[in-house]
Amino acid sequence: MKTPHKDTDSSSIQSKIENISKELNKELGNTSNSEAISNLKNKYLGRKGSIQSVLKLLPDIEIDDRKKYGKVLNELKTNAENLFENKQKEINKNSKNNSKKNNADLSLPGYPVKFANSHPLTQIKDKIISIFESLGFQIALGPEIETDYYNFEALNIPKDHPARDLQDTFYIKNEFNTYGNNLKVLLRTHTSPVQVRIMEKVKPPIRIIVPGRVYRNEAVDSTHSAVFHQIEGLAVDANVTFADLKATLECFAKRFFGETISVRFRPSYFPFTEPSAEMDIGCVFCSGKGCSICKKSGWLEALGCGMVNPRVFDYVKFDREKYTGFAFGIGIERLAMLKFKVNDMRLFYENDLRFLRQF
Ligand code: DAH
Repeated sequence: MKTPHKDTDSSSIQSKIENISKELNKELGNTSNSEAISNLKNKYLGRKGSIQSVLKLLPDIEIDDRKKYGKVLNELKTNAENLFENKQKEINKNSKNNSKKNNADLSLPGYPVKFANSHPLTQIKDKIISIFESLGFQIALGPEIETDYYNFEALNIPKDHPARDLQDTFYIKNEFNTYGNNLKVLLRTHTSPVQVRIMEKVKPPIRIIVPGRVYRNEAVDSTHSAVFHQIEGLAVDANVTFADLKATLECFAKRFFGETISVRFRPSYFPFTEPSAEMDIGCVFCSGKGCSICKKSGWLEALGCGMVNPRVFDYVKFDREKYTGFAFGIGIERLAMLKFKVNDMRLFYENDLRFLRQF
């Protein structure tokens, strides 16, 4: 008779079997996928698995016990195999149900991603700026809340000029005036005051463009808005001539509208330039043939310009004998309407995506 080993008396085999059975049930209960089941199967039923390791102990125990536990272990094995099989069936069933519930067609194309883009007025502004930057102009900015001095007086706009009228200009009540000194304060009616502000600070040569928002006390219609946008231009140096003005603006027009655009300069009047002109472009709607939009003239007004009035130089204490300069004012909405052939300015402000997505 073999001497029972410490580990292999029948009661320890009994408790090993009970443990295996308990552990197996617990672990199987926590299992929810096929991979985990196959690992468990290996752990319990594999060649080095826990049931096998107890079977290996049987030769060391009493013959009667050996028979008894041999049978118990074989039952445990069969039972475990059944448990694994049932669990696998259960998992297969669940995953089938899930895929039925989630019946998305993965082969369908996705929803198109809509990218945002800049507002058409911003696109036009950026384009104008980049053309002038390539010609050596730098961006300058000024305040939207201005004083009468910069908006009118230093630009040689006389006291009785209609632009100063309440009907054209939004004045700011004295109680909101943070400039102090009882200065007359207003919302700038154009970007031209920035010319004066820069010339007060910077000596020639000067080449600046000034994009910005401007305000006019005006009824809104298809070509007017109380708030709109301009880009001011100013170039000051010794020997700047009207030829420089024409060449610069013609170059701009060709880059902006295309090489084939025709331009003409017409005499005009602005208090801060002398002489003053307006630049027209050949009508973009009828290619200059004459239509209702250009009033049969074949031309459309594009911008105002001129040689800086020496009186303005006096205000900023530039030597009017030494320096000359040219200036121009571009309406961003106006150029956007010409470029995109939009006939109502209000469309730019309504934020209707059906309109905006076209640009
Ligand atoms: N400030 C003018 C306006 O708002 C536009 C303008 C015209 C600006 C001629 C200029 C210029 O600099 O030379 O109507």
